[in-house]
Amino acid sequence: MARILITSALPYINGIKHLGNLAGSMLPADVYARFKRLQGHEVLYICATDEHGTPAELAAQKDGVPVQAYCDEQHEIQRAAGEGFTLSYDHFGRSSSAQNAALTQHFAHVLEERGLLEERTEKQVYSIDDGRFLPDRYVEGTCPHCDFEKARGDQCDNCGRLLDPVELKNPYSAVSGSTNIEIRDTTHLYLLQSKMQDDIREWVEASTEWPQLAKSIALKWLDEGLQDRAITRDLSWGIPVAYEGKVREGFEDKVFYVWFDAPIEYIGATQEYSEKLGKPEEWERWWRTDKGADDVTYVQFMGKDNVAFHTVSFPVTMIGSREPWKLVDRLKAFNWVTWYGGKFSTSMNRGVFMDQALELLPVDYWRWYLMANAPEGSDAAFTWEGFQAAVNSDLANVLGNFVNRITKYCKSKFDGQLPAAGTPGEDEAWMEAELKTRLKTLMQHYEEMEFRKAAAETRAIWAAGNEYLTRAEPWVKYKNDVDAAAVGVRTGLNLVALFGILAQPFIPTAAAKILDALGIPEENRKMPNPDDDNLLDALPHGMKISPPDVLFSKIEDAQVAEWTKRFGGGQ
Ligand code: 2FM
Ligand code: ZN
Repeated sequence: MARILITSALPYINGIKHLGNLAGSMLPADVYARFKRLQGHEVLYICATDEHGTPAELAAQKDGVPVQAYCDEQHEIQRAAGEGFTLSYDHFGRSSSAQNAALTQHFAHVLEERGLLEERTEKQVYSIDDGRFLPDRYVEGTCPHCDFEKARGDQCDNCGRLLDPVELKNPYSAVSGSTNIEIRDTTHLYLLQSKMQDDIREWVEASTEWPQLAKSIALKWLDEGLQDRAITRDLSWGIPVAYEGKVREGFEDKVFYVWFDAPIEYIGATQEYSEKLGKPEEWERWWRTDKGADDVTYVQFMGKDNVAFHTVSFPVTMIGSREPWKLVDRLKAFNWVTWYGGKFSTSMNRGVFMDQALELLPVDYWRWYLMANAPEGSDAAFTWEGFQAAVNSDLANVLGNFVNRITKYCKSKFDGQLPAAGTPGEDEAWMEAELKTRLKTLMQHYEEMEFRKAAAETRAIWAAGNEYLTRAEPWVKYKNDVDAAAVGVRTGLNLVALFGILAQPFIPTAAAKILDALGIPEENRKMPNPDDDNLLDALPHGMKISPPDVLFSKIEDAQVAEWTKRFGGGQ
């Protein structure tokens, strides 16, 4: 039994996530966590809301509520959405926790002791009317290169050039529109990443188990040379720049930068979890290599925009501390899910958000489509038509009909009892060979965290079951040879159980319905071993089964038309 630590990128607190966010980190992490648990491994799956930073502060201001209250409410919304999507977190924490604050301050303190922090004074835009320094992207003005009038302080969307906000002509505050702004000096703590260039490169090069997308992004950053970066900001909402309760002189109105404390919350949330368990030291088994975490395999899931922070910035914090922290072993990054090739956008009415999705259809419909269409090799477009086709074909026809057909037939002809009679023949031998080969392929895709391929292989196994029934035809044989029909029904029911077991990581609710209908005990729901000899005759002869209720309903064209109108579509 292995020990596997899984984290998915922490969703920002401001606003419920859309299906693309879900498909690019939390959902695949959940599928992988479920798969690993079903192999019998000890898994810890951790996530949390990422609560600090200017966007949270401004969103609270807009709603007219204190930022703490805003975060409390939004955290609950996201927690409930995760539960709705059956995300099997062991803990869903909050980066605003006391644990994260203490850890973040600890890291800053040791980094300073190691000579990796330094104060630097820089010029920054201050908005007199807003009474605050403005983060780069909250300053707008005229681009000094192309004269575009709505250039952001960090980048001009017209000519694409990266900017320094102090270069903008006619700058104004994007928060209030005020032009009453000036340039002021401000002092921040800088993390000297440039000093860690060699350590990080050595570590990245030694990380042989990273999938390609993550590794190439990390190497690109290293080739460009690591830049020192400010890890504090002029803000009030965040973790105080303090150590053991004492605020650093001159940093009374500053906090740590959200991207400094967010990844530390992976550890913080594990501490929150340990305390909830009543075992305050439990987190150390997962995070301290001197306390047993050297046995842990740590896997991270995230969208590609997060890779640099996880392969460079966070490791600089961890490695730079020279303390025995557990570092990531495998980092799975995703491209984007697009909305018909474009961006999801609330304001333009394009796309579905997590809470809306569950008002339309049960969770497994979404889970299946998003994973069968995972943005792995490239971006993947969500389309209503693709969604409808996947649900109707894969779930309703290939899986749902199979389960219904054979369980109902067993009930009507064999009194709902798994028949014992008859001897397996050619058709069963074909099915078994097919199953063994495909199961091996499936397990390999899971191990490689290739979710789109794992879904395709799962479907191919369901389809092979249908082909088996077409070959074996128990309903035809029944007329002349009840024993021969019994073999078909017995094999078919064993396939139903296997299909339910294999479906668990992707569609756990429907899978449980199938397995409950067959009365499969919890301990027999583990992932099968492809080399087992009785894959098709594992269920006890004579056991009672009952057909499950309809597993999946088809999506009608009229529904697609209605949803296209409501949430946007191809036009
Ligand atoms: O990009 C994002 O949504 C960030 N909130 C991810 C943070 S991941 C981790 F480092 F906390
Ligand atoms: Zn420009």
